[in-house]
Amino acid sequence: MKAAVPTLKLKSGGELPQLGLGTWPMDDAQAAVAVSLAIRHGYRLIDTAENYRNEKGVGEGIRTSGVSREELFITTKFNREWHSIAGARQACINSLEQLGLDYLDLLLIHWPNPQQGRYVEAFAGLQQLQQEGLVRAIGTSNFKPDHLQTLFQHGMVPEVNQIQLDPYHPRAELIPLHEQHGIITEAWSPLGRAGELLQDAVVVEIARQHDKTPAQIVLRWSTQSGFVVVPKSADSLRLQQNLSIFEFALSNEELLQLGVLGRPDPEMLDADAFGH
Ligand code: A2P
Repeated sequence: MKAAVPTLKLKSGGELPQLGLGTWPMDDAQAAVAVSLAIRHGYRLIDTAENYRNEKGVGEGIRTSGVSREELFITTKFNREWHSIAGARQACINSLEQLGLDYLDLLLIHWPNPQQGRYVEAFAGLQQLQQEGLVRAIGTSNFKPDHLQTLFQHGMVPEVNQIQLDPYHPRAELIPLHEQHGIITEAWSPLGRAGELLQDAVVVEIARQHDKTPAQIVLRWSTQSGFVVVPKSADSLRLQQNLSIFEFALSNEELLQLGVLGRPDPEMLDADAFGH
């Protein structure tokens, strides 16, 4: 019997599942198949973005899944050209149209683009959308401490900040700040893009001891640490394995062993320089 996916309480009142499906870099056709399959396997949180150019496919997958809209939690994100009050509204309407939905569960500013300097206006736009009821929860993605501090200075607190996070990228500069302000940490590429992390000797050994896959160990580390994860998979078996991480637990010692694997990554995208 598969254990249920736990949820975290959002400030605006909703429940955010701790595990969902990431959809980058799926195209419309791939997303339509994977989203429908994932929902039928039991996924309820689906993560997309304007920039992934697959919202139409995600919407199709939602409709063919047979699960009612109200049971699902749909997140999308918008690009920098919409960083204004009117822009955020237009971005939301565009995404709703692509997805074929009449509200979003969570809308995020995809990248802060500090050189453009308009993410505060974008967040004000999100607040209006939330008041209007077009969006239930609002947040940011890829915001660094400085960008969050700027929002705080304007009395704005995202409900969620979605960031690159895995045992090789533990993001120690952000997690305490999130905790202090009640911001839920959501991890993108929580499997480290299926690179070296899944072959790391520490991860592999813990996986062996629990008779689980390295991916399951890495996802369990994140969720047991209190984070939300959106691993991408288009494969039926891996979709199911990634969902089956709530019927076992890592020991405190194992959490600590995984928690010290962080290492510098010169290729990590820097939100002060990169963004769309
Ligand atoms: P696939 O779609 O063929 O399953 P991330 O979400 O960290 O960016 O990782 C996504 C990558 O990890 C994709 O290449 C995906 O490939 C792969 N992946 C997803 N789930 C697993 C798993 N359980 N084991 C190994 N690789 C996985």
